Amino acid sequence: MSAPAPDRDPVTGRLTTGHEWNGIKELGTPVPRIVFIGLTLGALYLIVWTILMPAWPGINSYTRGLLGIDQRTSVEARVALARLERAEWTQRIETEPLATLASDPQVMNLVKGYGKTLFGDNCQACHGGKGVGNSGFPNISQAPLMWGDDLDTIHETIRVGINAAHPETRFSQMLAFGRDGMLGRSDILAVTDYLLALGSGASVDDMTHGAEVFAFNCASCHGDNARGSVDFGAPDLVDDHWIYGGYRQAVFNSIFTGRAGHMPSWEGRLSKADLRILALYVGWLRENQP
Ligand code: HEC
Ligand code: HEC
Repeated sequence: MSAPAPDRDPVTGRLTTGHEWNGIKELGTPVPRIVFIGLTLGALYLIVWTILMPAWPGINSYTRGLLGIDQRTSVEARVALARLERAEWTQRIETEPLATLASDPQVMNLVKGYGKTLFGDNCQACHGGKGVGNSGFPNISQAPLMWGDDLDTIHETIRVGINAAHPETRFSQMLAFGRDGMLGRSDILAVTDYLLALGSGASVDDMTHGAEVFAFNCASCHGDNARGSVDFGAPDLVDDHWIYGGYRQAVFNSIFTGRAGHMPSWEGRLSKADLRILALYVGWLRENQP
């Protein structure tokens, strides 16, 4: 009896294994050499690895490996170091005057990194990236600040908030001159146009109706020249920074319906050091805005 003739696949020209499953024949293609080499190297690597590194669990312990590496102890050491460094920093940041801290490059390096994270987590949703503001939320990195911009003042604003629940909160309100009937529409339009003219840099006639309305009703808070007053937290109305919009309708609305922005107070929610780091960070943003 002779062996059956080898079966050749007519399409590829290769020999088949001779097995047939439901009419499908398997080609006798060998596993490529590169795969054998890969598997062998992989196995060798595993053996070397289990000898060098902690690997096999035993009953009471595990094989430590020749290199004696333990990631847990190295992490513990790093955390302890970070805590120690942080305690030192915290101490300095809580006790030294903000102005002194602001002129220390090492402190400011920390502020730029950690302060940025704090700002991103707590402030950016309202004040925008880099503090450039959103509609209804002031630009605190480029605009003149309503409450003043020395570091202690900024810190105080962050600590107690504005129109917030804190017992010492700053309080400010733009009155609803139109809705509460203190001024008529034509007075409000006149003072709106007066402000827009001041902002455009044109020379403005102080004898117009709008200028009079301003002098009688607005200058007490916003200042004689409309450049704002930190005593009342009243913004500059001449520069091009507007919280609620500087186009005619928005300015009219601010005067007609009034405004009272709410800035949360952060004391109690953030640590003492974090409040001070944020004040330093806002100060840094204000000096380093492009
Ligand atoms: C819920 C929104 C909101 C969040 C969050 C918020 N703020 Fe404010 N912030 C405001 C508003 C609104 C004002 C302006 C209030 C007003 O118009 O009188 C303001 C005002 C300020 C001012 C004073 C501006 C000035 O002109 O004097 C500073 C400084 C400030 N925020 C810093 C921060 C910092 C730092 C954080 C993060 C810890 C923060 N804010 C988080 C809404 C917010
Ligand atoms: C009692 C003090 C006070 C008086 C009086 C006052 N304002 Fe204001 N005004 C404020 C404060 C405070 C704000 C900021 C409100 C806020 O941010 O929530 C403000 C905001 C505004 C804004 C919005 C500014 C922006 O950036 O969008 C305009 C416009 C304005 N005032 C115009 C006037 C005019 C015009 C008058 C007079 C008719 C006037 N104000 C009288 C305190 C006052």
